[in-house]
Amino acid sequence: MSKLDDIVSLCKRRGFVFPGSEVYGGFAGTWDFGPLGVILKKKIMDEWWSFFVEKRDDMYGVDAAILMNPRIWVASGHTATFADPLVECKECKSRFRADKIADGINESVSSEEFWDLHVKCPVCGKENWGPIRKFNMMFSTHVGAVLPEDTGDLAEKSIAYLRPETAQGIFVNYKNVVDTFYPSLPFGLAQQGKAFRNEISPRDFILRDRECSQMEIEYFVKPDEWETNFEMLRGLQHEFLETVMGLGARKIHEYEVPAEDRAHYSKRTIDFMFDYPNGSEELMGLAYRTDFDLDNIQRESGKSMEYRDKNTGETFVPHVIEPSIGVERLFLAVLSNVYTEDEINGEKRVVLKLPENLAPYRFCVSPLLKNKPELVEKAQEVYKILREKYGNVTWDDSGNIGKRYRKQDEIGTPKCVVIDFDTLSDNTVTVRDRDTTEQVRVLISEL
Ligand code: GAP
Repeated sequence: MSKLDDIVSLCKRRGFVFPGSEVYGGFAGTWDFGPLGVILKKKIMDEWWSFFVEKRDDMYGVDAAILMNPRIWVASGHTATFADPLVECKECKSRFRADKIADGINESVSSEEFWDLHVKCPVCGKENWGPIRKFNMMFSTHVGAVLPEDTGDLAEKSIAYLRPETAQGIFVNYKNVVDTFYPSLPFGLAQQGKAFRNEISPRDFILRDRECSQMEIEYFVKPDEWETNFEMLRGLQHEFLETVMGLGARKIHEYEVPAEDRAHYSKRTIDFMFDYPNGSEELMGLAYRTDFDLDNIQRESGKSMEYRDKNTGETFVPHVIEPSIGVERLFLAVLSNVYTEDEINGEKRVVLKLPENLAPYRFCVSPLLKNKPELVEKAQEVYKILREKYGNVTWDDSGNIGKRYRKQDEIGTPKCVVIDFDTLSDNTVTVRDRDTTEQVRVLISEL
């Protein structure tokens, strides 16, 4: 089993992540978060929000609707260009994203270039390919009272899309925030929320999903100040990933995306790659979107997106720097970073060395013996004190103490607190450390 398989198995076994709609055989590209996954995901999102929004004076939050006016996607260029190269095997009819089954090509590969590579079909092993076709990844739906048999104008006009990026929900609110908060440039608008992409080949557990969550900032700047702000945001991403998420700096690599591979809106993009168990993959992107989006909105809506400088009276359309990160990719990076197998007294152990700010539970409290009411009562007392103080504390009185430790190691609980007979007389407890497995006696009042 690869390390990724081990992580997938741990996630299922301990209730972090389950395959979407599993009881019906699953639904490709979708995943459900279980009780511990929800806590970890929320902590990741809350840390991001605290770091990039709450602790800064230049950031504001928004939470836009997922269903938006379809004109947005025309203006943003997604209707015309948000497409991946689809290729079909004429033998077995399997469909693939061309640039994912051949080396050395990118999303703009032509049919001829692909055919020249003599790629074998990953399913049937033959080489008989159709042409490359552009496949738009937006999910469409109908909004309003439209029946399946409706055609023509009624059906046409009711088409809407599930947003493929949260960013456009920010851009369409830029003017609202400027007119209500009068922020000085530079300032950022941040949003966390779902995004949907009909990926041709969802893969690698939660790395490439059809439904994911993004955390994005559109940072509005004066056009001639984009480079300094790009550098500022670049540094902030490293600080967040390395100090708040605890990701090793050695596992993060910057990739300067060449012009031909950049998204249609970007004049400069740095992808932050992370060393996942199956290789280096994009964790997040930092893009200079210029005035592409505000300019398009201005043209499509007929409303001015100009900003008026309070000091000089100058008016212009701001330029934008965008850091964008997927919650699931960050979740997997955090898990890959801390998943460890070691040996304690000759026995293999799996441990998640999660930093304290991300561990689903900070403490686990147990009575040494479950069938001694005086121990259980005292342990309940300690449990309530810690829960009151820290919130994220769990109770475990199942199995023997060794099994409890192993379970808490697997879910990343930094400290296990055990109440025994000595506690009843001296108010001390045993505190066992997850990473070193060392045990110390501590007064309850000092926890
Ligand atoms: N607004 C810019 C934007 O959406 P992107 O590079 O397409 O740019 C940004 O996506 C980030 O969103 C990626 O770096 C990744 O973390 C996450 N992401 C994109 N597609 C994803 C998918 N199918 N599954 C999981 N995460 C995804």
